[in-house]
Amino acid sequence: MSWMSLFQPKVSYKSAIPFSNDELIPYIRTNRISLQQVDDWIDEKAFSKSYFQYGVPEFLKPVLNKPIGDAPTYTDLMALLVERYLKKVNYLEIGVSVGKNYWQLLNALPQAKYTAFDIEEINPVLANRLVKGERTEWDTPAKSIKKNRSSLSRFSFNNKEVNYLSADVWDTNSWAKMEGNKFNLVFSDALHTPQAILFEFEMLVKYRLLDEERFIIVWDDLVGKMQNSFFKIIRKYNAVYGIKDVYLLEINGWVGQNEGPHSVGIISNFAF
Ligand SMILES: C[S@@+](CC[C@H](N)C(=O)[O-])C[C@H]1O[C@@H](n2cnc3c(N)ncnc32)[C@H](O)[C@@H]1O
Repeated sequence: MSWMSLFQPKVSYKSAIPFSNDELIPYIRTNRISLQQVDDWIDEKAFSKSYFQYGVPEFLKPVLNKPIGDAPTYTDLMALLVERYLKKVNYLEIGVSVGKNYWQLLNALPQAKYTAFDIEEINPVLANRLVKGERTEWDTPAKSIKKNRSSLSRFSFNNKEVNYLSADVWDTNSWAKMEGNKFNLVFSDALHTPQAILFEFEMLVKYRLLDEERFIIVWDDLVGKMQNSFFKIIRKYNAVYGIKDVYLLEINGWVGQNEGPHSVGIISNFAF
């Protein structure tokens, strides 16, 4: 423990979700059906041109298409939270990869607007299931690992607006492209570094991207120093946003039973 942390107020949190398995069952069913619609998430051509291998490490590639099992995942939990507390959702996912979580939420949420933010181009497996709209492009900063132009592509799915921002999280200019949005559900699942999640939150604040009436923010893989950043965000922004609920819990992720549970952090500015 550093001497600095001795002077920081402790953030208290709950480590179990306040919903029973029975309450989650309808969302689990819907989401497993959505996943069954896609046999193969991997487009080798897109992978060969990617900058970050869509965040899929070699050891996970063989299990990406396997059934994820019936234990609840973060996707099931988000679908429940939306139906119960948000109804109409403006969803931002930072780090979308091949689109497994995104696809399930595209199907699960009846009234929703979606924005995906990823350094890669949209996975063609996902894009082929959407109706294509216009695309705008701008320069990517030279220091980025992304070497093509950044872009915002519009799609629709079942009459719902779907946006795909292909850009580097570290590029402030790309965050500015989302200005005007008031996201009430944000899922942070991109870089998994303590610095990156702090930076993301600063961008959400800078461009006033959070729906101040009600929001839920979910972070995946909060391990080690990532937890320090999570608590730092809560301490720093509690006065502005009035954070009511804080969870740090273990739950399955995008490949479900094919790997161990993920450490997931959740905050909301209203109580569940
Ligand atoms: C773990 S995957 C996301 C999984 C997805 N959320 C799901 O649950 O199905 C992480 C993603 O973050 C993206 N990513 C990594 N670094 C990034 C950066 N600097 N800017 C934007 N996206 C980045 C990767 O391309 C990858 O697609």
